[in-house]
Amino acid sequence: MAVSSSFTGAKMENLLLCSAPSSSSGSASRAVSMQLPHVGLSKRRGLVQRGGAGGGGVGVRPVVRCDVGASGAAPEGPRIDVSSLSALEQLKASAADRYTKERSSIVVIGLSVHSTPVEMREKLAIPEADWPRAIGELCSLNHIEEAAVLSTCNRMEIYVVALSQHRGVKEVTEWMSKTSGIPVSDLHQHRFLLYNKDATQHIFEVSAGLDSLVLGEGQILAQVKQVVKVGQGVVGFGRNISGLFKHAITVGKRVRTETNIASGAVSVSSAAVELALMKIPESSHSDARMLVIGAGKMGKLVIKHLVAKGCTKMVVVNRSEERVAAIREELNGIEIIYKPLSEMLACAAEADVIFTSTASETPLFLKENVKDLSPVSTEVGGLRLFVDISVPRNVGSCVSEVSGARVYNVDDLKEVVAANKEDRLRKAMEAQAIITEESKQFEAWRDSLETVPTIKKLRAYAERIRLTELEKCLSKMGDDLPKKSRRAVDDLSRGIVNKLLHGPMQHLRCDESDGRTLSETLENMHALNRMFSLETDLSLLETKIRAKIEQIQK
Ligand SMILES: NC(=O)c1ccc[n+]([C@@H]2O[C@H](COP(=O)([O-])OP(=O)(O)OC[C@H]3O[C@@H](n4cnc5c(N)ncnc54)[C@H](OP(=O)(O)O)[C@@H]3O)[C@@H](O)[C@H]2O)c1
Repeated sequence: MAVSSSFTGAKMENLLLCSAPSSSSGSASRAVSMQLPHVGLSKRRGLVQRGGAGGGGVGVRPVVRCDVGASGAAPEGPRIDVSSLSALEQLKASAADRYTKERSSIVVIGLSVHSTPVEMREKLAIPEADWPRAIGELCSLNHIEEAAVLSTCNRMEIYVVALSQHRGVKEVTEWMSKTSGIPVSDLHQHRFLLYNKDATQHIFEVSAGLDSLVLGEGQILAQVKQVVKVGQGVVGFGRNISGLFKHAITVGKRVRTETNIASGAVSVSSAAVELALMKIPESSHSDARMLVIGAGKMGKLVIKHLVAKGCTKMVVVNRSEERVAAIREELNGIEIIYKPLSEMLACAAEADVIFTSTASETPLFLKENVKDLSPVSTEVGGLRLFVDISVPRNVGSCVSEVSGARVYNVDDLKEVVAANKEDRLRKAMEAQAIITEESKQFEAWRDSLETVPTIKKLRAYAERIRLTELEKCLSKMGDDLPKKSRRAVDDLSRGIVNKLLHGPMQHLRCDESDGRTLSETLENMHALNRMFSLETDLSLLETKIRAKIEQIQK
């Protein structure tokens, strides 16, 4: 089989020289266990990997903050060069072709509310509009084949399919460092790494709301759905990763319908309202002047929870009025006063409690904006409260240096949601049985993908024979053979091949519709490979490398 002459030199060098530890196991073998304060049942979570360093990545987003320390990004990693074809032949002959014997791994590299402060999460956050670009950049890394980004207020998790666990993790961590400006060593301290079954189980738990600050909250399922929606048609959001996320949606729905995990579940926004009410005197609950900044999904929920707590009047600041008007119409009877963003500071001066939940990437309030605001009456506690559920944060932590102000962010909500650990554990246990069952199903589906190359090779093999024999036949029949007759012979050859392939193809598919077990399917695959010498074709690694080179060259 011919090899592309424009082979990627650095990539090949990496593959040849790779001295990574064995990466075939499904466990986070190099991880150090650390107890983390959240609901997770399994020992897997709270795994924080340490060690190693490096550089690379693709540029730091500019962020204006009062509390962000200067942190150096890692140095630039090696660039990919186009090189000769002999390397591929060397690779085939070398003992370093262990990738060919392994299936790629699903890996999650994550930093969540359980182990990473908001100061760090906000630098890592990637806005939805940039997810496709991020997927593209991740998949251009040497050992990454597929990718997805789950960036929410509670977590920044990168899911990848990696040719090598060790190198894939290193490359992604360096990329995260470069895009966020956070040194690799800091990322090592806070990140968790999960592989294959553990990664699958993790995203299922996330989708079910088991890993959320507010157990069973519904927003996370919507966010997982959004990952799939945005990923549709994005090249690197490949078969394995999209299959994983789609399955996670199924799990999220199942857990919420078949268990009572969501019963009485609050959301981040209701917890924010709860926190604010905890911080002001009860006597002022109905009179406190409430200001909500942002009228998106979260802003709307904050407004609704305020109403549920008896608030009948509030000011809502938003860039545009439409969303506020729609909320006003929905909440008939509640006085909602709309103000544009340009009047935000004037509105803040007239408010006791300020909720912020916008997608702004830079803070809306800094110390200098707040220090001269008129003081809040002692009847409402004498402090102006800023409850900020945005990530990146809308209120700089420097605002808390102002004597008449208090700032709370998403991490402070732990105080409200920590209640009743036993109840949380019980609900989580109910969900766990479903997650275990669904994880097995996903693994079986993934295993069944192993047969796809054999299916393709068998088809290609049969097609080659068909075309050769057809050509022989047509040349014997002469040039003056009518078009109709040519087509009839062509159809005949196709019909015979398809009928002959039907049985073997059926025995290579394992979609659980016919009760065939996976091991039987894999046995069939090996038998067909042997019978038709299909394994003498391109190795799995060659196929992958070729696909990557084609992608890079496009
Ligand atoms: N979704 C969740 O589950 C969740 C949970 C907790 C926290 N959060 C955080 O809450 C924040 C809002 O999330 P969301 O889900 O409500 O988003 P969303 O539905 O997309 O709404 C975005 C809001 O931000 C406003 N906005 C966007 N860019 C802005 C800018 N540059 N300056 C000022 N306002 C701007 C929008 O105004 P217009 O209406 O004029 O466009 C809208 O009100 C985010 O920081 C998010 O991380 C979200």
